[in-house]
Amino acid sequence: MKKTISLFSLIGAAILLLAFTGKELDNILRDIIQQNGLNQHAPLPEYSAAKVELGRMLFFDKILSGNKDISCATCHHPALGSADALPLAIGVGGQGLGTARQMGKGRERIPRNSPDIFNRGAKEWHTMFWDNRVSVDIMSGYESPADEKLIDGLENILAVQAMFPVTSRDEMRGEIGDRTVRGEINELALISNAMPQVVWHRLMLRLKQIPEYVELFEAAYPELAVQDLGFQHAANAIAAFETAAFTFHDSPWDLYMDGMTNAIDASAKRGALLFYGKANCSSCHSGNLMSDQKAHNIGVPQLGPGKGTAEPLDVGRYLETGDQGDAFAFRTPSLKNTAITGPWMHNGAYNSLEEAVRHHLDPRQYLRQYDASTLPIELRETFQDDAAVAERMLGQIDPALGLESPLSDREVGDILSFLYALTDKSALELGHLVPTAVPSGLPIKD
Ligand code: HEC
Ligand code: HEC
Repeated sequence: MKKTISLFSLIGAAILLLAFTGKELDNILRDIIQQNGLNQHAPLPEYSAAKVELGRMLFFDKILSGNKDISCATCHHPALGSADALPLAIGVGGQGLGTARQMGKGRERIPRNSPDIFNRGAKEWHTMFWDNRVSVDIMSGYESPADEKLIDGLENILAVQAMFPVTSRDEMRGEIGDRTVRGEINELALISNAMPQVVWHRLMLRLKQIPEYVELFEAAYPELAVQDLGFQHAANAIAAFETAAFTFHDSPWDLYMDGMTNAIDASAKRGALLFYGKANCSSCHSGNLMSDQKAHNIGVPQLGPGKGTAEPLDVGRYLETGDQGDAFAFRTPSLKNTAITGPWMHNGAYNSLEEAVRHHLDPRQYLRQYDASTLPIELRETFQDDAAVAERMLGQIDPALGLESPLSDREVGDILSFLYALTDKSALELGHLVPTAVPSGLPIKD
């Protein structure tokens, strides 16, 4: 009899303890959320419906591309988590959408993975691109590849970013000699790379020839005369659309942060605790953006055509700064909606979220033993399997990655549960953004 009682009380105590640790975990997480301001979001700027609508049309209209064959949406599609589901994007000359997209004859892949564009309208962003080549500069306003040629009147960093896809030959502008899908000479491609301001000017000429765009611009900018409109006004409208259309805080983790204790399960809670604790993820994926906006070398396998003077390598931030410490460093990506925006990393090296996470836990092994067979066939041979490249990268890998004790499989599973809880409900329901037609009359479908 005595024995049974003690057994019962033992079980009772265990149950109590379990309930207590669950509650304790919530309390610890509440503290973490508070201390790091994880659910603090500065109010978004207010944009008129007319400006957002103009931006929406421009975002989906292939008229912005030299050959009239690709729009922003081709690479940042609402149905594909505001990205393109490809490891490396396919630009001008390509056909199809998502994993069905095929490269045009004689073209190359874009050297980098199309990032998602969720929550990029948040005021906290002061950098854009995988290598931070667009950034806020306290002295001059913005630092960008166009330097002093960048036109004035850009409202925010997202608008600054929107100036560049149209000047990039591979993404949207095309090559000298290209023709548009309507058979015209691609006049944008004829302009020298050193004159982005001429590209912007010529693009506005295209837009102003279309009466519906003139109306949309007039509605969006009632205070301006049509002749005073420049591409900066188009870019501001695109940024307004991106902000209005792709900003959400309705993931299970957001609901949990707002007080709904059962919005995420115990595994995701343990994952959050690891993420903000022992696994050290938040030392880089920090704050309410889940990014410190700094570039780090985490030893991601090199693949693709490469970029700039370092081709076939892509040395990331080093291309911008020339600082050895920046070699192979890429900006920490935000992790909101990461589960729906694979393949992962700056070049889509991993097509499984678990692999992308595990890479961080043992970058040496993951880089040295990278399996390129998961890549699309024509990308496999671009993987830089030279051991010297790997060792060069590993020589200066970010020290924040070194964990004192390895994580168990269960712990990795918990972190994945947490990452899955970062998917906004609204991010899965974006079909309504796609217009049925755009002012140029060009097809919307890729
Ligand atoms: C061919 C595919 C392609 C097209 C078309 C394209 N993008 Fe992108 N976009 C990318 C890639 C790839 C990157 C990352 C490039 C880099 O970081 O070097 C990117 C980066 C961005 C970013 C930066 C996100 C961040 O956090 O750094 C934004 C915003 C964006 N694009 C918006 C646009 C807009 C607006 C348009 C149309 C004017 C557009 N893109 C057209 C592929 C594309
Ligand atoms: C040293 C800073 C740092 C730490 C610590 C870190 N990350 Fe990262 N993370 C990055 C950078 C930088 C990238 C992009 C690297 C690249 O593409 O070259 C990245 C990429 C990712 C991606 C892919 C996202 C995408 O959109 O492609 C995921 C998922 C991720 N990290 C999760 C984690 C998790 C989980 C942890 C903790 C176990 C963690 N990270 C720790 C810096 C860090």
